[in-house]
Amino acid sequence: MLARGKILFVCDDRSYVNRIKEQLSGLGEYTLITESTAQAGVMSLEHNICDLVIIRYAIPDLDILSAIGDFKKVDPDCVIVVLLEVEVEGQSNQYAEVGVFETLGWPVKTDKLKFVVEKGIKLHLLLAAGRKTVQGLKENNQALEKQNTLLAKRIEDSTGNLSRLYEDLRSTYMRTIRVLAQAIDARDHYTHSHSENVARYAVAICNQLKLPAKDVELVRQAAELHDLGKIGIGDSVLLKPSALTASEWEQIKKHPTIGAQILEPLTFLGGVVDLVRQHHEHYDGSGYPEGRKGDDILLGARIIHVADSYEAMRSARSYRKIPLMKEEAILEIKLNSGSQFDPKIVDAFLKIVDNL
Ligand SMILES: [Fe+2]
Ligand SMILES: [Fe+2]
Repeated sequence: MLARGKILFVCDDRSYVNRIKEQLSGLGEYTLITESTAQAGVMSLEHNICDLVIIRYAIPDLDILSAIGDFKKVDPDCVIVVLLEVEVEGQSNQYAEVGVFETLGWPVKTDKLKFVVEKGIKLHLLLAAGRKTVQGLKENNQALEKQNTLLAKRIEDSTGNLSRLYEDLRSTYMRTIRVLAQAIDARDHYTHSHSENVARYAVAICNQLKLPAKDVELVRQAAELHDLGKIGIGDSVLLKPSALTASEWEQIKKHPTIGAQILEPLTFLGGVVDLVRQHHEHYDGSGYPEGRKGDDILLGARIIHVADSYEAMRSARSYRKIPLMKEEAILEIKLNSGSQFDPKIVDAFLKIVDNL
């Protein structure tokens, strides 16, 4: 196959043009565009994609460096050959530093011209192909980045929707359980609003102790649900107007465990379950169901225990129709500080009791 390509020859001397044209015609199917000034050559390159630009160095007033710059501006891959009047050994290296591909000396030997033209055209093709690939990669990258952004946005939206759904589900669960707890309180008209009051007192103690908001919320939820396990205790025991027998007491003592078992599958309740389980533990280890002692009882459970006991004393019960007076209930809490109750919690309670 014959070599082919488009060559722009910037030369002001007709005899040079004719000679090069003649030499090229014997080498392949080359299209030769000729211009007599660098400026005209640059304009020509703007309209024609050329594989090679040959510039005659001896053109009067030619500023070869700015001409090279102008050609490269039009085509950054432009392959430039400088035609010198005389070929000087080692001159190509100096020109290479300013972006010239090769130099030729006049008169140009045909085999040298063939070699330089073929190599130059191949280089231009390679550079152009490389640039196209890089451009293609850039475009692909941009498209991928765009897709990534869209995807990230979709994921963000979906996550937001899921979080909202989860939050809805969680609050629906909470409402259901709260209603259940309130229904249990309402089984006995004496304990109506018991859990609600316990939650209010417990939160007040938490705030007095300056607990973090997250912990206060946990205590509030646990306080609202603390007697949920009473669902498993019959009315005959729960609503008994007289003293309980030993076996009836044993039944009552099961309610913290039953409550915890009911709540355990609801993983989102997290720490609430253990607070419910421990709300009847005593500071000195005499409580139930596990007989935990001191700091081995969760702080939240120790708080709920004080709030629960005070609320129970201040309300009428089936076994005690008249509630204790405020002073009597406070005295009872004080008397049991250090045995049934954690003294630190009692101290905090005493500071807020007047505002309850
Ligand atoms: Fe209880
Ligand atoms: Fe209670």
